Amino acid sequence: MDAGFALPRDGTEEDPVRLGVMISGGGSGLAALLRHQLKQPCCHQTVLVISNRSDAGGLRHAKENLVQHSVVPIPPGQDPEARRLQHEREVHQLLVASNVELVVLSGYMRILSPWFVERWKGRLVNIHPSLLPSFPGAHAHRDVLAAGVEITGCTVHLVDEGVDTGPILAQQSVEVTSDDTEDTLQERVKQVEHELYPKTLDLLCSGRITL
Ligand code: GRF
Repeated sequence: MDAGFALPRDGTEEDPVRLGVMISGGGSGLAALLRHQLKQPCCHQTVLVISNRSDAGGLRHAKENLVQHSVVPIPPGQDPEARRLQHEREVHQLLVASNVELVVLSGYMRILSPWFVERWKGRLVNIHPSLLPSFPGAHAHRDVLAAGVEITGCTVHLVDEGVDTGPILAQQSVEVTSDDTEDTLQERVKQVEHELYPKTLDLLCSGRITL
């Protein structure tokens, strides 16, 4: 295994890997993960949901499923770097306090600093709505449509210090149709994400992924 990445321990149904899920928006991915964890014996369990936005619709899924949740807004101040670090320190403290073992980014719309990544490297995963390394960044669907490609998809990857650059754990393709808009494409890719992410977490949390 790559020395820089320390993967989570093997979880079991009796002692599941404790997940902290980080969101910024609607949280359809979080809802799919919670459904997956309820449906079957599972080697991972969501114990904490953190949003950087108080208006994130996804918080309702945490509430409905009685999962502990916190809003950690970006603190006020002049210096963007100081604000970012303070925010990440707060997030890190909450994760540690809840004994989180794997951080799952699910529509979390902030880039994490090297300070945070270093602390969670190998235990920090993201899903990105394109076939990385193609179309990284915040506007994947727009960029896919502008490029006129016929196949897109989604990628689950470990997070490193770059933007959407960490080791790829799983990918699945999705066809782009000639009448697709950003919205229709996003919707179709999300359907695939909702299957792929929980299944990849099953593999990662049971020792069936090695780097
Ligand atoms: C997903 O498409 C994910 O790949 C991207 O943001 C979207 C989140 O959607 N990073 P939701 O908030 O889970 O509905």
